[in-house]
Amino acid sequence: MILYNDRLVDREDVRIDIEDRGYQFGDGVYEVVSIYEGEIFRLQEHLTRFEYSANQIGITLPVTLEKLQDNLHKLIEHHQLSNGQIYFQVTRGYAPRNHPFPEESHPVLTGYVTRRPRPVESMKNGVAAIITEDLRWLRCDIKSLNLLGSVLAKQKAAEQGAFEAIQHRNGTVTEGSASNLFMVRDNKLYTHPLGNLILGGISRIVVLELAAKLNIEVIEAPFSLEELHQADELFLTSTTSEVMPIVTLDGKPVKNGTPGAVTKQLQEAFSALIGF
Ligand code: PDD
Repeated sequence: MILYNDRLVDREDVRIDIEDRGYQFGDGVYEVVSIYEGEIFRLQEHLTRFEYSANQIGITLPVTLEKLQDNLHKLIEHHQLSNGQIYFQVTRGYAPRNHPFPEESHPVLTGYVTRRPRPVESMKNGVAAIITEDLRWLRCDIKSLNLLGSVLAKQKAAEQGAFEAIQHRNGTVTEGSASNLFMVRDNKLYTHPLGNLILGGISRIVVLELAAKLNIEVIEAPFSLEELHQADELFLTSTTSEVMPIVTLDGKPVKNGTPGAVTKQLQEAFSALIGF
C-alpha cells in the first residue's frame, strides 16, 4: 500500500500522468522522515517544512496536515514498519505541458515506506567527503523535487569513492548535497545560518538542541573553504545519516582521520534521544 492524496491504495492502482508537472518540471516538494521503533521522528517539524515548501511555490496541499499525519501513521501500521523511512511528495499535478502554473491544478500527493537499518558502521568509522562547487538554485530552503544540482554533486562524490559532496559558493561553505554540514574548531560548533542558501534540516535543529543541552557553543555563521581545511572535526547531519563523522576531505584526513570527541558526544546524545 502507498499513500495517494487522501487514501491508502495499492501501488499497482496508481496512475501518474506523463504530463504530471512533477515528472516534467520537478514542480513539487518532498520530505524524508525517519521511523524509529515504529515512531515517526520529529513528524511535526517535517510537516511544517512540507507545508512551507509547498506554500513557497504556490501549491495547496490536497489534504490537511492532520489527515496527512493520520495517513502516515496508518501506512506505518499497515506495513508493520519498525525501522525505516517514509518518503512523501506533492506535485502541482497534471496539466498540458506549459511552464506557467495551469489555471486549474490538482496537486498529487504520494508517499511510501522503506525499511532500512541505521548506518551504524559508517557512523562509527566516519565517511569520506569531497568538496565541490554549489551549482544549485538560490532557494535551497525549499525542499524541491528539482534535485539535479544535488544529484550531480553526489555523483561526483560517488565517482571518487566518497559518501558526500560538501558544496561551496565562491569559497563559502554551504551544505552537503543531501545533508547539513557542521565544523568543530576549538570545541565550538560552526554551521551555515538558515536562509535561502541551505535547507533548514530537521536533524540540524535536533543537533542544535543537543549542543545547547551539552553546553557546546554554537556559531551559526558562514565559513570559508580555508576554515574548513583547518577543522578539528567535521560531521554532516540528515534524516538518513543522523550525525555522520567526515574523516577525510578530498582524500586527506580531517585531523587524525577518526571521528572527533564532540561529534561522538553529539552522536551519543542523538542515539539516546531516539532510544537506541
Ligand atoms: N536530504 N540539506 C539538503 C540539501 C538535504 O537534501 C537534506 C536532506 C538535508 C538534511 O535535512 P534533514 O535533516 O531534514 O533530513 C540538508 C534528504 C534526507 C534526502 O533528500 O534524501
